[in-house]
Amino acid sequence: GMQPGAVLPLDQVQMTELLAETTLRGNSRLEAALFAHADSVTRKFFGDDVYYRGIVEFSNVCQNDCGYCGIRKHQHDVHRYTMAEEEVVEVARWAFTNRMGTLMLQSGELPTQKRLEYLQRVVAACREATVAQDIEQRGLDPKAVGAAEREAMGLRIALSVGELPRAHYQALYDAGARRYLLRIETSNPELYHALHPSSMSWEHRIECLEALRDVGFQVGTGVMVGLPGQTLCDLAADVAFFKQFGANMIGMGPYITEPNTPVAEMWQALHGHIDKKEHMNAMLHLTTRVNALARVTIGGVNITATTALQAIDPNGREIALRRGANVLMPILTPTKYRENYQLYEGKPCITDTADECRKCLNARVSMIGKRAKMGAWGDPPNFVAP
Ligand code: 5AD
Repeated sequence: GMQPGAVLPLDQVQMTELLAETTLRGNSRLEAALFAHADSVTRKFFGDDVYYRGIVEFSNVCQNDCGYCGIRKHQHDVHRYTMAEEEVVEVARWAFTNRMGTLMLQSGELPTQKRLEYLQRVVAACREATVAQDIEQRGLDPKAVGAAEREAMGLRIALSVGELPRAHYQALYDAGARRYLLRIETSNPELYHALHPSSMSWEHRIECLEALRDVGFQVGTGVMVGLPGQTLCDLAADVAFFKQFGANMIGMGPYITEPNTPVAEMWQALHGHIDKKEHMNAMLHLTTRVNALARVTIGGVNITATTALQAIDPNGREIALRRGANVLMPILTPTKYRENYQLYEGKPCITDTADECRKCLNARVSMIGKRAKMGAWGDPPNFVAP
């Protein structure tokens, strides 16, 4: 028998076989065992705790043309916005007050000097504002709080702003950001190149991930599941990649077709004949199988129950939290901007406020018998501070 909570040293062939057995041959007993074991490993490392990362999608301006994305540069019917700096800092204050622990700033990709300076100011201001809130809350004298103590106060700031020169990454770390999310999208270079314009490369993506880790960031990465042309072997390789790279956070979401994009056309050509609803249901379960595989083979890593899972099933995020995931990302973007940050069709929570998202996720977490670990930064056990 399997020791509950034991991390399993499955290799890529064994993982492919497990995915094939559960996905192609419909072995539901094996699937149930995989999910149960993933939950036992999650509980061993995190107990009932679910970590939050509040996310603010501060700009949809993008200079890239990823073939699947709803805010790609050549998606013409998108109204482009960038939030005012003070607006982002206001969200940070709200996030601290509501004990989010981490604030994730996400946007399209824009490697300009102007954007870098905007981000440096925003990151520094979010840190400053929330450290000040923390100092006041604890009734401390601001003048008596040293740098090391400040570092341990306020919100952790995470960034998800794409591929940038290493000097930009360093400047953003120096401004106070400590975490960075950059999905590899797929660990298969050929598939990556088929989904992205020729100006982008898988190798450069890897260089960025390595630069981020070198600079000292806690690094998150991830992939989409169900990309046209993607195989179960690719998905097993994705998990092997997360492990080998030493990702501190993993985000896996189903690929969802976004109308008027090249990859949606590829998908249509391959899968246009099958029932979309049924396909999406299959993708929910496939995504959670890969999540579960990552949990049982890697162990103490943060794994997100991604928003995209809820786009394909109203209970998608809760289901993932019972199958190996331990992180939720409540959307804190001011409501008026949300309709313009649709990376894929059917993104949920578009008309909600930050407060509604917080309450809704809290309710979902307690419904499955877990609890939101409010106010925690939620470093994963596998992160070793530089
Ligand atoms: N379906 C699912 N996920 C998508 N992303 C972008 N477009 C889509 C889509 N159509 C994901 C990418 C990116 C993240 C911010 O959103 O993985 O890294």
